[in-house]
Amino acid sequence: MDQLENLVAAAPNRIRSASDLEDLKAIETELLGRKSLIAESRRTLGALSPEQRPVVGASLNEASQQITALIEGRRSELELIAEDALLLEDRVDVTLPARSLPRGWHHLVTRTLEEVADIFVSLGYGVVTGPEVDTAWHNFDALNTPPTHPARFESDTMYVDYGDPDDELLLRTQTSTMQVRYMEQNDPPVYIVAPGRCYRTDTLDATHSPVFHQIEGLAVDEHITMADLKGTLAYFMREFLGPDRQIRLLPHFFPFTEPSAEMHVSCFNCDGSGCRVCSGSGWIELLGCGVVDPHVLESVGYDSTKYSGFAFGVGAERLAMVRHGIDHIKHFFENDLRVLRQFS
Ligand code: DAH
Repeated sequence: MDQLENLVAAAPNRIRSASDLEDLKAIETELLGRKSLIAESRRTLGALSPEQRPVVGASLNEASQQITALIEGRRSELELIAEDALLLEDRVDVTLPARSLPRGWHHLVTRTLEEVADIFVSLGYGVVTGPEVDTAWHNFDALNTPPTHPARFESDTMYVDYGDPDDELLLRTQTSTMQVRYMEQNDPPVYIVAPGRCYRTDTLDATHSPVFHQIEGLAVDEHITMADLKGTLAYFMREFLGPDRQIRLLPHFFPFTEPSAEMHVSCFNCDGSGCRVCSGSGWIELLGCGVVDPHVLESVGYDSTKYSGFAFGVGAERLAMVRHGIDHIKHFFENDLRVLRQFS
């Protein structure tokens, strides 16, 4: 009984000394477990006299209850402490500066196409896009380009499937296909630009690539003339290359326009006096254009006696090369970050 009293007296300090839940578990085993004084004493109860047995039994029960209560109390405390420690460990310092993620940007070709489209949108034009795989009819026949035209040879055009013009499939060589596609579906007036990718059987050199981008323009309305074309292109060039640009139209040939022209713009780098950008001529050749051939209007069912139009097509890479002094078209496709970053 003395031993039991000592045990109970020492228990509060012993239990309070537990520094964590594991420690407490060990103390619990020591005080109440199978080998503890209390458990061992219980096992010897049978050997006591009938008078002693209930007295000692009651003392053992009381001691065990007291110790259990003390242990439970300490356990609650230690659980709280452990929880606090966990919370502290997981704490997020919301005041720390954020890790910055690298931000992407649009490729120069995309930006050029968007910029050109924006200029025309500001004039009231719509923007349309269409398939890169198209029929020979959309790419050639409807654009007044007969089957014998050299541009249709395999030395110039990549074919996907052979057949009649209606179902002969090719990789479009020009965004002019969109003139036909749009007019087939819409009545005049038409004011659209069509950006997109084109393909030709070209060998890669400084200015040619088998894959490239164009943006096509088409205006069809009553009384449209060459003068409207010239004014529109002059505005476009001033917006794209600066307020002092002048343009000149030189006679050219395209099957789908008559008359056709090649547009030159006065060099934005030297203002016409001659430099490296314009190869010393003071002028830069930029695009093809003209008054829409009546055959094209008729091929999509427009009345060519009532409506007339102008069209132009310009290479996106060409525009960007001229403006930024880029000397090789490969820079658009190699995706060298050192180059791309300069246009971010
Ligand atoms: N499609 C022509 C080319 O790829 C460019 C062009 C010329 C487009 C005259 C036109 C145009 O719309 O009227 O070379």
